[in-house]
Amino acid sequence: MRADTWVGKTIVVTGGSSGIGASLLDLLSQIPCKIINLSRTEPELIQKISKGKEKRAASLSHISVDLSSEKEINKAVAKLAKLTDGIDVLFNNAGVTAHSRFDQTQIEAFRKAFDINFFGPVFLTMRLLPYLKKNKGAVMVTSTVSGLYGIPARSAYSSSKSALHAVMESARIELSEEGLRFIIFCPPYTKTNLRANGIDGDGKKLGESHYSGKSKSPIEVAKKMIEAIEDPNARLVVMDKSGWFLKWMRNISPSFLEKVLYKKLYKDFH
Ligand SMILES: NC(=O)c1ccc[n+]([C@@H]2O[C@H](COP(=O)([O-])OP(=O)(O)OC[C@H]3O[C@@H](n4cnc5c(N)ncnc54)[C@H](OP(=O)(O)O)[C@@H]3O)[C@@H](O)[C@H]2O)c1
Repeated sequence: MRADTWVGKTIVVTGGSSGIGASLLDLLSQIPCKIINLSRTEPELIQKISKGKEKRAASLSHISVDLSSEKEINKAVAKLAKLTDGIDVLFNNAGVTAHSRFDQTQIEAFRKAFDINFFGPVFLTMRLLPYLKKNKGAVMVTSTVSGLYGIPARSAYSSSKSALHAVMESARIELSEEGLRFIIFCPPYTKTNLRANGIDGDGKKLGESHYSGKSKSPIEVAKKMIEAIEDPNARLVVMDKSGWFLKWMRNISPSFLEKVLYKKLYKDFH
């Protein structure tokens, strides 16, 4: 992490109350900068700081908001306007997973996944564009390797994330003239509460335990996200071979890729 890139900057993080977002707050708060978190729950770190139990170099604020609601986003932006008039980095990180076979998924589950993973970040980014333009800022979305190809048992999750890729790409081309950057970050499996908080095919709480295979820690992922912001050429960023495999194999041999996904995720959709 190059501290000089971040000193004095205004950073907005969504979903800082848990997992990858909480790690972003943890790392960035060690630098003198301004951090504004948007999530429904106040992050533990911010609670501890306000109770004097923890000290950090950064100033941290929390705005409570349900990012699946445009009305709530509008209210949150009005509160944010009292804290800053410019944004250097927006981490659109909040999100929800959705697990179910396509033939057992209700449209409600798609709507919920899209409200949080797609419409939330798109609407928030739109509303924050004047702030980002002022500081020639960078926008990062936490997507997933499952956004690089339609993954079995993840049709709602994969589609809600990959739709976001297209918006980021369009915006990147249009707004490069104004000095804005848009980065799509695709982490692999990461040890967080994502599965417990996810939704099933009926749009109800999934409550699954964490993936038992090899996975990254949220701190590892947050470090890479920070490094990607520091890289002026970052566009679509993957962290390991699972991401590289999906990113390239979809063009080189989609039939081979589908065979691998079928075998690897067989248990997930049977
Ligand atoms: N964990 C993985 O394996 C993995 C892999 C690839 C990508 N990702 C992506 O990483 C991002 C962060 O997930 P995580 O793994 O850190 O999961 P997590 O521990 O469940 O954290 C999710 C965060 O999103 C926030 N959030 C969810 N719904 C929200 C809503 N309606 N309004 C406002 N905030 C909301 C939550 O805050 P509140 O509940 O306080 O609102 C929480 O802070 C997600 O976009 C996810 O898709 C995760």
